[in-house]
Amino acid sequence: MGTIRLMRIATESNPAERVESDAVIVPVFEGAHEERFGAAELIDNGEVTGKYLELTLIHHPHGVAAKRTLLAGAGKAEKFESAQLRRLSGAAVRFLKSTSVKKIALALDSGQANAENVSAAVEGAILGDFEPDRYKTGDDKKSVESFTVAVAGGVPGIEAAADRGRILAEAQNFTRYLVNEPANLLTPLGLAEAARKMAAEYQLECEILDREQMEKLGMGALLGVAQGSAEPPALIVIRYKPSVGGGAAHLGLVGKGVTFDTGGISIKPADGMEKMKYDMAGGASMLGAMRAIAQLKPAIPVTALVPCVENMPGSRAQRPGDIVTAMSGKTIEVINTDAEGRLILADALHYARQQGSTHLVDTATLTGAIVVALGHLNVGLFANDDGMRDRVLAAAKAEGDRMWAMPLEDDYKDYLKSAFADLANVGGRWGGAVTAAMFLKEFAGDTPWVHMDIAGTAWIDDGKAFLAKGPSGVPVRTLVRLAMDW
Ligand code: BES
Ligand code: ZN
Ligand code: ZN
Repeated sequence: MGTIRLMRIATESNPAERVESDAVIVPVFEGAHEERFGAAELIDNGEVTGKYLELTLIHHPHGVAAKRTLLAGAGKAEKFESAQLRRLSGAAVRFLKSTSVKKIALALDSGQANAENVSAAVEGAILGDFEPDRYKTGDDKKSVESFTVAVAGGVPGIEAAADRGRILAEAQNFTRYLVNEPANLLTPLGLAEAARKMAAEYQLECEILDREQMEKLGMGALLGVAQGSAEPPALIVIRYKPSVGGGAAHLGLVGKGVTFDTGGISIKPADGMEKMKYDMAGGASMLGAMRAIAQLKPAIPVTALVPCVENMPGSRAQRPGDIVTAMSGKTIEVINTDAEGRLILADALHYARQQGSTHLVDTATLTGAIVVALGHLNVGLFANDDGMRDRVLAAAKAEGDRMWAMPLEDDYKDYLKSAFADLANVGGRWGGAVTAAMFLKEFAGDTPWVHMDIAGTAWIDDGKAFLAKGPSGVPVRTLVRLAMDW
C-alpha cells in the first residue's frame, strides 16, 4: 500500500486532564454538566450543546496537560453506542488534522470505558484519516502522527482492543485504496497482483487463475464479459485456514471485480462514467476482509474469490443476444452486456461451491436499482437462507454497517425467462436489484448464501465530517466480524 500514511496507535490509563498530546478529544453529551476544561461556561451560554458531531476547540485549557481540548458533541447519552463513537472519533480527527495537529488523544470516561468503544475510537480515527488524494502532487498534505485512547483506570484488554481496531480500519483503508485506484493503473491483472502481495505479506495462500485455466473450467459467463477488453481476466483465490480445528463450515467470500464498467456494447452514458472504476469494490472488500482475517485468525476456514475483468466494447466484445454457457452448465442469453457483474459472479459462485464453501457471501456493486430503492444509506441484503441472513445482519449491526433485507421470492424468477436459453441476464424494468439477486441465486444452488448489493454504499459522493469523499470500504468490518463470530 506504499504511500498510505500509517498512524501510530497507543493506549493509556489516564484521565483526560493528564493526557499529554497536541489535542485531547473529549465527548460531551447533550444536557451534560461538564465542569472540566472551562466547559461549564460554554455550556451555560449555549456555545457548547453536546449536539452530535458539534466540535469546539479550546486552546491551552486550564488544568489540562494537552495543548488543546476538543469538545466533541456526542448527542444523547442513551443513543450513544460504538457506532456513534466511531464517527465522532473520525470527525474529530479530520477536524484536528485540517488544523495541522499531529498528536491526538481521545479520552473515554468510565461510562464509555469498554473494549468495543476502544476499538471503535481507533477505527474512526484511522478511517477518518484516509484521503483519496494519492495522485495529487502538492507537498501540503496533512497527516496525523499518533492517536491515543485514554481511559482513566484503564479497561481490561485495552491494548488488544486498540489493536483489533487498528487491524480492521487498516484493512478497510486497504480496500478504499484499491477502490480509489483509477482503471488505467489498476487492471484485472493489477488487482490480482495487489492480492498476491497482500496474501504474501500475511501468509495467506493465493492462487490466480488465468484465462486458459478458466476456459478449461468452462467459465463461459465470466469469459464472455472479459472478451471485449485487451486486458486479460484473472480469478483471485485466497485461502485462510485456521491452525486449530475448524468444524465442517467453510466460508466463501465472493466479490465482483470489474476494474472498469463501460457497459460493453450496451454502453453507458458518458455522464458519470468515470465513477465506474469503483465497480471492483465488492472484490476489494473481500481482499480487505482477508487482510484482517489473516491477522485476527477466526476459527473458520475462509476462501475469498474475486473474478476480475474489464467490461469494454472492443471488437471482440460479446453482443446482446449472445448465448453463453456458465460453468454450472446453465445457458444464459446476454440481453444487456451492462449486466456483467452477475455473469462473472455466476461462475465465481459456482466455483466457490466446488472449492468446498459451505456458506457463501457475495458483495457487488451490482445494480443502479438498489440505489433507487435504498439511496446511499443501506446495503441491500438478499439471502436464500434465513439463518445466514440473520447472522450477517447481526454482524452488520455490531459494526455499524447499515444493511436492509430485501425480498427474494421464487416468483421473481419469471422475470428472467428467455425464449432461447435457460435464463436471461436481465429482468426488465422493475425490481432490478431483486432480479439481479435472483439471477445469482440460480448459481448459489442449495448453499446458504447472502448477497450484498453495495452499488449505493461503496462510494460516498459528498464527503462526511468523519469520512472523505470517495470509497467507503463498506462492508469490510461486517465480513470480518461474520467470520470471527462464526
Ligand atoms: N456496475 C453497474 C451497477 C452500478 C450502477 C454500480 C450504478 C454503481 C452505480 C452494473 O454492472 C450495471 O451496469 N447494472 C445495470 C443492470 C441493468 C443493465 C439491468 C444497471 O443497474 O443499470
Ligand atoms: Zn454494468
Ligand atoms: Zn458493473
